[in-house]
Amino acid sequence: MSVWKISGGRALHGEIKIQGSKNAVLPIMSAAIIKGCETELLNCPQLSDVEAAMEILKHLGCTAEREGDTVYIDSRGMNRTDIPHDLMREMRSSVIFLGAILARANEAELSYPGGCELGVRPIDLHLEALRCFGAEISEQGGNLFCRGRSLRGARVNLSFPSVGATENAMLAACGAAGETVITNAAREPEIIDLQAYLRKLGVSIWGAGTPTITISGFVLRDRVGHRVMTDRIVAATALCCAASAGGRITLRDVVPAYFETVTAALEQMGCRIDRKSHSVTLEADGRLHAPRPIATRPYPGFPTDAQPLLMAAALKAEGTTAFTENIFESRYRHAVELNRLGADISVVGRVAVVTGVKALVGAPVKATDLRGGAALITAALGARGTTTVYDIGHVIRGYEAFEKMLNDLGADVHYEDERLAPVG
Ligand code: UD1
Repeated sequence: MSVWKISGGRALHGEIKIQGSKNAVLPIMSAAIIKGCETELLNCPQLSDVEAAMEILKHLGCTAEREGDTVYIDSRGMNRTDIPHDLMREMRSSVIFLGAILARANEAELSYPGGCELGVRPIDLHLEALRCFGAEISEQGGNLFCRGRSLRGARVNLSFPSVGATENAMLAACGAAGETVITNAAREPEIIDLQAYLRKLGVSIWGAGTPTITISGFVLRDRVGHRVMTDRIVAATALCCAASAGGRITLRDVVPAYFETVTAALEQMGCRIDRKSHSVTLEADGRLHAPRPIATRPYPGFPTDAQPLLMAAALKAEGTTAFTENIFESRYRHAVELNRLGADISVVGRVAVVTGVKALVGAPVKATDLRGGAALITAALGARGTTTVYDIGHVIRGYEAFEKMLNDLGADVHYEDERLAPVG
């Protein structure tokens, strides 16, 4: 079994480049099939979810090849409209292919994506949105059958600004005749990146980043090149790690505005922040105080993905920090593991209260999900002694060469094969 061993207590220093965004690249890879064309995607992170998306593309009859951080996709030969269960299971967000396959072929067959580590993750908003275009969707034996004859442009009003449902509606709209207007759309930066790619493809689309997105018409281009945005959650992770361990780090090639809520909270905690147009520097001396209450919200609010990370950075902050998780129902499983390091976190329903402790002490802990696992590493960097993190597969799903990024900054993180049973 693979584990990470982290010897805490070493301040982080240096400058790093942040990887391409996982949550931006996946919808763009699915968008690459809405018309037959060639796509050159730069800055693609080397992650299992990206590899899984490439497998899905190949299954559909496209070619998908990686060379370094560039992925080449040729979707002209697409000849299937189904995604089998084992490929759906590989990547939790594979439902994002639904709108794109429908746009291309007017039919799609996918197995129903299961629950996930953050609780029940329904897709009702995705299906509701796709039905607006005239798609008939039925469920049989765990499979979704979608047929659209020809999709019609529609008014899609989302009852909640779901990121995935917004993306699926944008993709389906590209294959629909007539204008589509999506209201109460999610405003996340990854949606702006999807719009940027679609525009290069020749789609007439505007409004991403606001609650109203309009799509009208399409002039096909044969070849598209696009550089995937940098990962704002990985950027937030690096800043939280430096806040926890102390030190001074600079992140290059980032858009500071995209993770401003996280940076602002770290600033409230006493970190010194220097924002430039494409870089951020954080300096922390290890003495932190609790920030104002944190409540997760859809963008531009505080990101749910950064909640575990900021919590980990706040464990030794003087005072009490209150977190309210408004997006996912089951997103505090890391709290139990953080408490194993000596933290004082109590959770009641959607609220977690962190009372700052003087010191954290390394212990064996188990990653419960992607960002929760990253939070354990964030805390371990600021703990005395050695922390062993089990079940790191969750974390590897979203961070490219995580230990290298941290070790380049002076951390002591080792990947090991361990024969011991996991804790808990
Ligand atoms: C995306 C991100 C994820 C992030 C989340 C919220 C990707 C691959 N993942 O996930 O990292 O944490 O946005 O910023 O981009 N919901 C429904 N019905 C639906 C869809 C969603 O009830 O049909 C609920 C979800 O259960 C959740 C909330 O809406 O409670 C937000 O989900 P959503 O914005 O759709 O997140 P994802 O797109 O799944």
